[in-house]
Amino acid sequence: MMRHSTSWGSPPLRPVLEKQQVHLWLTWVDQAIAQVPQLRQILSTDEQARADRFYFERDRHRFTISRARLRQILSQYLDIPAEHLQFCYGTYGKPSLAGSLANTGLQFNLAHSGEAVLCAVTCDRHIGVDVEQVRPLPKVQQLAERCLSAQEKIHLTASSCPEETFFAYWTCKEAYLKAIGSGLTQPMDQIEFALTPTIQLMKVLGSSEAAKLWSLQLLNFSPDYKAALAVEGQDYQLMCWQV
Ligand SMILES: CC(C)(COP(=O)(O)OP(=O)(O)OC[C@H]1O[C@@H](n2cnc3c(N)ncnc32)[C@H](O)[C@@H]1OP(=O)(O)O)[C@@H](O)C(=O)NCCC(=O)NCCS
Repeated sequence: MMRHSTSWGSPPLRPVLEKQQVHLWLTWVDQAIAQVPQLRQILSTDEQARADRFYFERDRHRFTISRARLRQILSQYLDIPAEHLQFCYGTYGKPSLAGSLANTGLQFNLAHSGEAVLCAVTCDRHIGVDVEQVRPLPKVQQLAERCLSAQEKIHLTASSCPEETFFAYWTCKEAYLKAIGSGLTQPMDQIEFALTPTIQLMKVLGSSEAAKLWSLQLLNFSPDYKAALAVEGQDYQLMCWQV
C-alpha cells in the first residue's frame, strides 16, 4: 500500500503516468478567473453552450475553468492539443475519452466545489473523486438518516464532530459512485464505509466481496474542504500537483 502523498507541488514539465500511478491535479477557480477568455477557446462548441446555460457567472466560470483544465491535463499525457480531445458520456453522465483515444486506457474523473477543482487521472482502472466545501449542516442527523448505513449512523452519533464525519462519509460514497459511473442514482445507505482505523469500503449493496475490489482515501489540501478518491484495485502510487 504505497498510496499516500501529502505535498501538492508544481507538476513536472512533462508528467509521465506509470501503470501503478494515480495523478491528482488541484486547481483554484479564483486564481484562474483572468484566464477565462483563453480557456473558453479550448472548449468544444457544445461545452461553450453548456457554460452559457449557467445562470450565475460564477458557475459559468467554474465550468469553463474546470473543463478547460481537464482538457489541458489530459492533453499532456496524450500529446495532442487540448481542443482536439473528444469526450463521450456514460448512461449517467460520466465523461470518458471518445474515439481512438478510448483505447489508450487513460481514465479520469473530475470534481468541483466552491473554488476547488480536482482532477484524478490513472490508467486501466476505474477512478472517482469527490470534493465538498465544508459548511454548516444544521440537519446533519436528517441527512444521515437518508445517506448512512445503520453502522455509520452509530459512528456519526458518537463522533465529536458529526459534520466533519458526515462529509468524510459523503465524499467517500460519492467518489465510489463516480468511479463506477452511477453517480447518485444508487442508494447511498447501501454503500458502507469504515472510517477507522483506516478507511475501507465494507459493503456494496450487501456484498463485502465487491467492496474488497476498491481502495478509498481522504485527501487533505485545505481545512475548508473534504475530498475523497476511489480507485479500483490496491497498491497504487498517488502523486498530487497544483496548477
Ligand atoms: C455525478 C454526480 C454525483 C456529480 O455530483 P456533483 O457533486 O454535483 O458534482 P462533482 O463536482 O462531484 O462532479 C461533477 C463532475 O463529475 C463528472 N461526472 C458527471 N456525471 C458523472 C457520473 N455519472 N459518474 C462519474 N462522474 C460524473 C463530470 O466530469 C462532472 O463535471 P462537469 O459537471 O463539469 O461536467 C451527480 O451529477 C449525479 O449523481 N449524476 C448522475 C445522475 C444524473 O443526474 N444524471 C443526469 C445526466 S444523465
